[in-house]
Amino acid sequence: MVPVRPDAASSASSPELSIVVPTYKEAANVPRLVELLDAALAGLVWEVIFVDDDSPDGTAAVAKGLAARDPRVRCLRRVGRRGLAGACIEGMLSSAAPVVAVMDADLQHDETILPKMYAAIRDGADLAVGSRYVEGGSSNEGLSAIRQWGSETATSLARRFLRIELSDPMSGFFMIRRDRVEAIADDLSSEGFKILLDIVASSPERLRTTEIPFTFRERTAGESKLDSLVTAEYLGLLFSKLTGGLVPVRFLMFLMVGASGIVVHLAALKVALHVFATTFLWGELAASFVAMTWNFVLNNQLTYRDRRLTGLRFVWGLVSFYLVCSLGTIANMGVATGLFEMAGSGPWIAGFAGAVMSAVFNYTVSAVFTWRK
Ligand code: GDD
Ligand code: MN
Repeated sequence: MVPVRPDAASSASSPELSIVVPTYKEAANVPRLVELLDAALAGLVWEVIFVDDDSPDGTAAVAKGLAARDPRVRCLRRVGRRGLAGACIEGMLSSAAPVVAVMDADLQHDETILPKMYAAIRDGADLAVGSRYVEGGSSNEGLSAIRQWGSETATSLARRFLRIELSDPMSGFFMIRRDRVEAIADDLSSEGFKILLDIVASSPERLRTTEIPFTFRERTAGESKLDSLVTAEYLGLLFSKLTGGLVPVRFLMFLMVGASGIVVHLAALKVALHVFATTFLWGELAASFVAMTWNFVLNNQLTYRDRRLTGLRFVWGLVSFYLVCSLGTIANMGVATGLFEMAGSGPWIAGFAGAVMSAVFNYTVSAVFTWRK
């Protein structure tokens, strides 16, 4: 149980609760959020930690302006980095309070349930999750159909494969004992945005969990940074956790993109042969370029969304990706023919080994040359 000090409400004591708020371009929402927290958390000693990824709209300056007048407000300005999960982790680890919460800056999360979450933890829970999907919770905002579908699929996959019994594992609104986070800090993935799911899946023991319903409000200022592609990233995290973290999320996303590229390749080949009546060789060549371009664009949007190439760097990236894939094809052929002709492997095993070789090759080499940091 979390120790509660008798003098907790005196303003001189250190915070009992840190609220970590990741921000990217939320300058218009930050002051209002602090007012709402002030009203909701009367009687508690709290602090709010804005973790801003150097937003171009000056969010960090706004937060620091507030912090200069109000010691309960802090701001961590991260430079040269982007990412929701990483921001949440660093914010939580910067806290010394026994309990930490994570919530969005855009006022979509209902701050009035924070005292209920805190009470649940005081009463022995490790984790309290704000849920849109338990009885009494809801979402006012029409999530796009594809995100809605992704959210539901992800929830049921998490339930089936990771035995995560949360009704809303995608929620970005939760409160947890800080020692539970500190214990697994090393295992958390700072890529992506599914921090809650990651915490639950990484915890060695089952976390005593309470779900508290809330209504997801509509965003009024600024815009959402998460799009339907985040669903794919989420699937990547699920599979990475299934392999015990052995296979990185990025590689899995790269593989998913590659798998879609095979379909595109075959479709393009069909069009080349039937519509443009090319020879097989020319058709293959054209289809390879279509598929490589497809893979590049998708990887740039998805796998490397945090290092997305734009403008001229996009063009150079594409050229380097063509080169990497061509070398990958040579590596593939080398391994496959070697196994088939010299080691006497069956054609399927040799072909499979070749494909694995080129996937690993393309992934590692493009990480260094195409999407270098
Ligand atoms: N520091 C930092 N870095 N903050 C970020 C970044 C980033 O790269 N990207 C987004 N944020 C902040 C936003 O400023 C906001 O405070 C919060 O993270 C959530 O981002 P939104 O862009 O508003 O996300 P959303 O409303 O589409 O998604 C919310 O609902 C999802 C459920 O559908 C989030 O709460 C998700 O976590 C949740 O899964
Ligand atoms: Mn939002």
